[in-house]
Amino acid sequence: MGKVLKYGMVGGGIGAFIGEAHRKAINLDGKASIAAGCFSRSYENTLATGESLGIEKDRLYENYEEMAIKEANREDGIEFVVIVTTNYAHYDACKAFLNAGIPVVCEKPLTVTLKQALELEKLANEKNLQFMVTYVYSGHVTAMNIKEIIAAGEIGEIRTVMGEYPQGWLAFEDVQGNKQGEWRTDPAQSGKTNALGDIGTHIENTVFRMTGLKIKRLLARMDKVVPGRTLDDNSTVMLEYENGSTGVYWASQIAIGHDNGLRIRIYGSKGSISWFQEQPEIFHMAKQDGSLMEIHRGHSTIRQIAAKYTRLPSGHTEGWFEAMGNFYSNYIECLLAQRNDTFTGKMIEYPTLVDGVDGVRFIEACLKSSENGSIWVDF
Ligand SMILES: NC(=O)c1ccc[n+]([C@@H]2O[C@H](COP(=O)([O-])OP(=O)(O)OC[C@H]3O[C@@H](n4cnc5c(N)ncnc54)[C@H](O)[C@@H]3O)[C@@H](O)[C@H]2O)c1
Repeated sequence: MGKVLKYGMVGGGIGAFIGEAHRKAINLDGKASIAAGCFSRSYENTLATGESLGIEKDRLYENYEEMAIKEANREDGIEFVVIVTTNYAHYDACKAFLNAGIPVVCEKPLTVTLKQALELEKLANEKNLQFMVTYVYSGHVTAMNIKEIIAAGEIGEIRTVMGEYPQGWLAFEDVQGNKQGEWRTDPAQSGKTNALGDIGTHIENTVFRMTGLKIKRLLARMDKVVPGRTLDDNSTVMLEYENGSTGVYWASQIAIGHDNGLRIRIYGSKGSISWFQEQPEIFHMAKQDGSLMEIHRGHSTIRQIAAKYTRLPSGHTEGWFEAMGNFYSNYIECLLAQRNDTFTGKMIEYPTLVDGVDGVRFIEACLKSSENGSIWVDF
């Protein structure tokens, strides 16, 4: 086993959702171990979380500004940081660590404004620091494989894309007591969008990573369906890509009966592909001759890059943790290569600031369209 990197975390305290998931995903490969944290706005929670993770008290911080400075000045300081706070705090926290010279991993949406996202991109580039934005779904082996199939031209020129992400968990008026529901429906913590920013950006990013299609313009309708909502809970977007093909995305939290129903269907001139994130072990490909294939992870049909991330034989299911772990594995490999002067941009398989910035650009373009009566807006 090579060097184990030390990392820190901001957010992800006891009672939070995604921080613990990140820690588990990182642990899959044993390439990094947690050494510091500011896990919550409550110092008590940070202390309790830190204790449960076996972190020394002098590396548990009351705020992330202090953590960034102190960790940067330690000889055994953290070698990257993971930001898993609610959306409003991403920008300041990322900036603090980039300024301190520490590589960053941040949850999506990257920031609440495009201006902030572009600033982070500039800062990370100036400091030559690697930055991962955890759009996790394209880390599934089958999603990576679809990218390779499309790049090889197997379904021909892409003509149209259908992307949907239905959830039902916010279909009801009362979100009190549901921590994750409370902040997502509060503009002060979530930003100017809920469904579109929270899950619509996953559609935007998964389509981009599978197809490479760049959005040219879009038209959005962002509805607030549940009475009393100030942010969208059901959003529909029509898109035109730079190659002239089209797309339709639907992101909903009022779709009773659905959990995390991200489904992408891509139609080309020679065939089509359909992928469903709740069944990430398989995908379907149809060809012009009428044949319909169900392709399973773990078999020889899985191509080079995707196959590299296969951890288990076919039939022993891999899932969301592995998808996240795959990107961490690549991110850490790239950080180590940068230290050894063997790093090249071609090694990057994780979602970068390009993905992060485009996600926020997508949100702003949709808001502009929707707020102006659903007009077409250039991307
Ligand atoms: N990639 C994905 O699939 C995915 C899934 C869920 C959530 N997310 C993203 O992860 C982020 C967190 O979501 P969640 O559901 O875990 O939320 P959560 O409410 O469960 O957890 C947020 C945590 O951040 C902490 N926090 C907030 N402000 C802080 C600050 N200033 N300093 C230190 N800690 C602070 C809170 O105390 C809490 O521990 C969001 O940006 C969300 O969009 C991504």
